Amino acid sequence: MESAEIVPTVNALRARVAQWRQAGARVGLVPTMGALHAGHLSLVEEIRKRSDKVVVSIFVNPAQFAPHEDFDRYPRTLDADVARLAAGTELVFAPSVREMYPEGFASRIEVGGPASGLETDFRPHFFAGVATVVAKLLIAAMPDVAIFGEKDYQQLLVIRRLVADLALPVEIVGAPTLREPDGLAMSSRNAYLGPRERAIAGRLNAVLRDAASEEAATRDLLAAGFDRVDYVAIRDAATLGAPSEGPKRILAAVRVGTTRLIDNMAVP
Ligand code: PAF
Repeated sequence: MESAEIVPTVNALRARVAQWRQAGARVGLVPTMGALHAGHLSLVEEIRKRSDKVVVSIFVNPAQFAPHEDFDRYPRTLDADVARLAAGTELVFAPSVREMYPEGFASRIEVGGPASGLETDFRPHFFAGVATVVAKLLIAAMPDVAIFGEKDYQQLLVIRRLVADLALPVEIVGAPTLREPDGLAMSSRNAYLGPRERAIAGRLNAVLRDAASEEAATRDLLAAGFDRVDYVAIRDAATLGAPSEGPKRILAAVRVGTTRLIDNMAVP
């Protein structure tokens, strides 16, 4: 099986994408932080249906981690990731931190609207870090379409807002969450869970599915063994504002041991 070409610089990425565009190809981008699992591969499969050439970016973005968070221990498995991508990916963009944030880098994109509350209450640095790197990735790759998982639902809405506000010429696709057999949303951070924690983590999805209210879900999560519930919130699915007549979403962030997990789903 042919393996994907790996490029470490924005210039090399631009040159290859420019060649494709000249040949009339439609380009898709899957931004990731690596440690790829079946959830990421499903994003690649989905974008493949919508593009002729697929770029996967692999970059553990320091700007979206606070100093006390898991940037240093975040799994970095580039060789295995590239091997997993062999089918269905033409190009892997794997820049260094210096390439993305050169000496003197001093810009930051702050998104309001859907970035307010929820994750921001607990990780105030997070969405500016995500918005800045995603804007850089989109401007570097100039894809026709880019895909993000619904597992990070608030992130997906923030990216849609960013793209609309900056009038970036790219279609943003949201893809459904892939789950383990017990319902745990697939995430690179699941690798941190020991066996006891993994068993508890599997309850998150079921508690949210059966939630009668935010309070009841919080109680049930603590009873299931989670050490802390950062939030359980039922929100308007389009804006993440207070729930209205339209579709609603339940979102939660919890901790088990030292691992923080998030999940969300549509409220029927
Ligand atoms: O969801 C992620 O993996 C990251 O937040 C993203 C979108 C690749 C930006 O670093």
